[in-house]
Amino acid sequence: MNHLTDIDALSDEQINNLLDEALRYDRIIRAGQDLKGPLAGILQFNLFYENSTRTSLSFEVAGKRLGADVVAVPVAASSVHKGESLRDTVLTLAAQGADIMVLRASGAGTIDASKVALKEAGFGTAIVNAGEGAFGHPTQALLDAATLMSAFERTPDDDGLRGLSIAILGDLVHSRVAASCCALFARLGADLRLCAPQELLPTSKPDGVGLVTTSRFEALEGVDVAMALRMQTERFEADLAIDPAGYREDFGLTMDALSFAKPTAFVMHPGPMNRGIEIDSDVADDPSRSLILQQVAMGVPTRMAVLRHAANR
Ligand code: NCD
Repeated sequence: MNHLTDIDALSDEQINNLLDEALRYDRIIRAGQDLKGPLAGILQFNLFYENSTRTSLSFEVAGKRLGADVVAVPVAASSVHKGESLRDTVLTLAAQGADIMVLRASGAGTIDASKVALKEAGFGTAIVNAGEGAFGHPTQALLDAATLMSAFERTPDDDGLRGLSIAILGDLVHSRVAASCCALFARLGADLRLCAPQELLPTSKPDGVGLVTTSRFEALEGVDVAMALRMQTERFEADLAIDPAGYREDFGLTMDALSFAKPTAFVMHPGPMNRGIEIDSDVADDPSRSLILQQVAMGVPTRMAVLRHAANR
């Protein structure tokens, strides 16, 4: 079993293999070919302490398509509400035979702490990070990279994302998607630009990022890809109030703002979207520009690749 905790914990070779495998599964699914059930006999628990639509369902679909036994833990109806700790819940699922545990949680260090607890208790269960607080969401970054490679007809081993300029706009300090996408896209050779209001920008330039700015037009000038992010208001400090209408005016991905990007530029958003705030509907729904539903679709084959990596099959 192999854990998948963070982009930084993956080697270049593992990243390339995961992306190759995601793109291969994407082709197999599109062609309606037999998936052959390589995870038959594997018990996969999905344990989500935060709300999720795309991520939880795509992990469920991915596991089922590969023949795993998939159990979505009903957190709201579980002993979590009798005061059971996350650690005890993780060990309970491992004792029931979990081979893979797909975990989403809000606390810093939860993923690593669960990994350590499993090891100390002698379980071989693989932990897959499905989003950890504001810190990381590695499978979202992998599916976003696979979506870009498919859209730009690139391959992981050959050209990766080399030379593509990608602007990420939105709540960068609270976004685990931004954290993992920056780490992965930079490693794959992209030229990254980050844009947000000052209070939502990182205090220092992350590794591999070329530009950090409060100017949407500077960020979007001539880019190949513009990615908008949701404001993670659930993680805001009490005194951080951002007016949604003013935000759209200065930082929203509107058609006017997008006119600064290349005429062929693609638009991305990890979802869930707040239409009319960080992205306008005419941008999100433009089939010639928007990759948003392709991102959702790529969630399944990417998580199939991740689950096979976790199961070591
Ligand atoms: C994100 C998440 O939950 O981290 N969405 C996702 O997984 N597709 C982003 C968000 O909540 O805004």
